[in-house]
Amino acid sequence: MKGIILAGGSGTRMYPITKSISKQLLPVYDKPMIYYPLSTLMLAGIKDILIITNPEFITFFEKLLGDGSHLGISIKYEKQTEPKGIAEAFLIGEHFIGDSEVCLILGDNVFYGEGFTQMLQECTKIKNGAKIFGYYVQNPTSFGVVEFDEHENVISIEEKPEKPKSNYVVPGLYFYDTQVTKIAKKLTYSQRGELEITDINKEYMMRGDLKVELLGRGFAWLDTGTSEGLHEASSFVQTIQKRQGLYISCIEEIAYRMNYICQNQLHELAKGLKNTDYGEYLINLSNERKL
Ligand code: G1P
Repeated sequence: MKGIILAGGSGTRMYPITKSISKQLLPVYDKPMIYYPLSTLMLAGIKDILIITNPEFITFFEKLLGDGSHLGISIKYEKQTEPKGIAEAFLIGEHFIGDSEVCLILGDNVFYGEGFTQMLQECTKIKNGAKIFGYYVQNPTSFGVVEFDEHENVISIEEKPEKPKSNYVVPGLYFYDTQVTKIAKKLTYSQRGELEITDINKEYMMRGDLKVELLGRGFAWLDTGTSEGLHEASSFVQTIQKRQGLYISCIEEIAYRMNYICQNQLHELAKGLKNTDYGEYLINLSNERKL
């Protein structure tokens, strides 16, 4: 399975912060936002990754993550010239996807919870249909809202409805079979001028091929799309990391624990960051016996 991180968008909801910089490069506590969705893909076992972003920001992402080889993965880059919607990722990424299944994650989505890795790895086995997630929120109106039956088959899915049919919203993490690009090619622009991911999901629903998996109340899906949400996500990460001394979405650690790189490679990466707590954490990890 291949992975796409969509890190585009105009970022206007966070002006003036994002007037000159990509939102997905802003810090969520002690690391760039994109580390969090990248971690999700890496934990899923996906090593072939495409990052889609605005043309002016590509060099910044390249400087941060390179071709991914230092993490034992492959990272490629493509441009989204205008914010024409999430589903455009499958058109931009058509060549990259080829005839693979694909996981799409939005560059500003932060997930954290027990059992997540196992859940992700199950999802990568998908061969037919699509898999989305459902997360209970207090105010569903600014998201895709999903309604489902007792077998977790989707009954309805609506983008930003005024009268939501449930409190379950769809986070920006989606797994698709090889049909997704074909479906994306048939979409038309929505009222807000975008190719909607919800329309792709609706097509799978109509085919009876859309499953939803619920993320329980012990699970954190954090919003980083507003200054307030970003601040809260940073506090969340700080709280957990300080309490446990274990890092959330430390991509070097994940590369090491997933056996994408060996202990010596981890040590080399750590040396380059040694003036920070982050670097010290990696140095210690590279000196420990692997559990
Ligand atoms: C997008 C999707 C929406 C989904 C949300 C998750 O919203 O359209 O269905 O629930 O991401 O972050 P947007 O960011 O385009 O408002």
